Amino acid sequence: MIRLLFFLLIFLFGCNNSQPKKIVAAVVSAKKEASEIGIKIIEKGGNAFDAMIATDLALAVCYPSAGNIGGGGFMIYRTSDGQVGTLDYREKAPEKSNKDMFLDSDGNVIKGKSTIGGLSVGVPGTIAGLFEVHKRFGSLPFETLIEPAIQLARKGYVPTKNQLKNIELYKDLFVSINGKKTLFASNLKEGDRIINEALAKTLEVIKENGKDGFYKGEIAKHIVNNIKESGGILNINDLNNYTPKWRTPIYFKYKDLDIYSMGPPSSGGICLAQILSMIEPYNLNQYPQNSIKAIQLLVEAQRRSYSDRSKFLGDSDYNNVPIDYLINKYYLKNRMKSFSWEKASISESINPGDISTFESEETTHYSIVDNYGNAVGVTTTLNSSFGSKLFVEQGGFFLNNQMDDFSIKIGQPNLYGLIGGDVNSVQPNKRMLSSMTPTIVEKDGKLSLVLGTPGGSTIITSVLQTILNIYEYGMPVQKAVNSPRFHHQWFPDNIVFEPNAFGEKLIKDLKRMGYKIDPSKNKILGRVDAIYINQDNLLTAAADPRGDDNAQYLRE
Ligand code: GLY
Repeated sequence: MIRLLFFLLIFLFGCNNSQPKKIVAAVVSAKKEASEIGIKIIEKGGNAFDAMIATDLALAVCYPSAGNIGGGGFMIYRTSDGQVGTLDYREKAPEKSNKDMFLDSDGNVIKGKSTIGGLSVGVPGTIAGLFEVHKRFGSLPFETLIEPAIQLARKGYVPTKNQLKNIELYKDLFVSINGKKTLFASNLKEGDRIINEALAKTLEVIKENGKDGFYKGEIAKHIVNNIKESGGILNINDLNNYTPKWRTPIYFKYKDLDIYSMGPPSSGGICLAQILSMIEPYNLNQYPQNSIKAIQLLVEAQRRSYSDRSKFLGDSDYNNVPIDYLINKYYLKNRMKSFSWEKASISESINPGDISTFESEETTHYSIVDNYGNAVGVTTTLNSSFGSKLFVEQGGFFLNNQMDDFSIKIGQPNLYGLIGGDVNSVQPNKRMLSSMTPTIVEKDGKLSLVLGTPGGSTIITSVLQTILNIYEYGMPVQKAVNSPRFHHQWFPDNIVFEPNAFGEKLIKDLKRMGYKIDPSKNKILGRVDAIYINQDNLLTAAADPRGDDNAQYLRE
């Protein structure tokens, strides 16, 4: 009896002191429901690509301001054997679009035309993108991956307080565009569930018929009719002909890191490469994080990079984008020649190089690493919150307003204040320039970090600062994500700071040197969702506390 008790004690003692199980996979996204659905797919034996499809579809249900089937996005991946690639499922301009489609007869921009309603809608790429990912990398049947989103749409989800506020903010617009009976105009109280039976049915049709279920047949007809009634030009050919594209990532070295990010039609990878290369010779970590010198250096590099963006970047299928030149270290060193520690550069005097409110709710990013070692980072969007606000009632989803990411008039700032050149003007079937920056970092040839964020034009600088916080300032990934951020984009010539996070003296000193700072423009910058893998292959996921973001793990 005593012996039995002894063994029982040993057993209980042993159990209580057992090591926490090792995290072998993680999914971090804007919503708990979506992260849970993603990790369950991995638990079932699916890989990161399977989890990507399930997470993306779940976000389309429970995060309708940015998660979508009516928008588009970019995926970066790294397989367990080290292959890195990207998929572009960005929206395209409809075939009937033209350069001046958002201008009146005097050549002035017609307010709201590129941001609200039918004309603002680009051809959605999400569903085609997900099927493309599945064809190349999927291991579980598509039916298994879409089923949780169908269930979620049917059973409903309880929106967070942030989501309720956001829906309330846009309610009048939803009604004015879609009528009083539109789903998201219903009176929602805290704790109510949003049930979207129409979306459940749409997803079932896609489950039955594959991507044709979306791009052909009844759903396609509903999309075209809704857009037409709202003054748009997107037609059935546009839907039938949409194809995603595998693209070579932007690759560059920063010190001992190998960094891969999204190339055109996103500006993200090129701008990230430019900014990091411009600051590389200065050894940033000699200046404390967010100190005056660190801010100066980054702001001046950002100013110069966003200036190049305005002139040289657009869809590389339609223009010659001089990528190699733009990320050439010698060119970038020269770009910084006019930088002085004494005083701010003036954006008016920085030209593109000579080569012969809750901003963040607009887009969403998620990161996944599976137990096989595959990594996926996806940034996907409707452009602004709830996109064009045009809701396909019969299908249960919003359509994007991505057309505003084109230069709707040369030199005229878009929704994000970004100025674009002719290289990004509207042309039939062309993809509009993006700032989305899903990124993968390797250290010593091994996967080290997967990250990305929403935030429009500020995406690039939020990704940048998170990378620097980890590799220059040695912060753990969660601290790196939480840390206050700032942003500069050439024009408007203004440093945007996160509210209440930077001291008055620092701001005064910067102003004295000529930096322009308008506190009324300060705002929350991004929501970075990242997964860091240390030298011992231990995973840590960081969900940005600026939103309702959530990380889920698989432990073994
Ligand atoms: N619509 C925001 C972006 O693509 O950058």
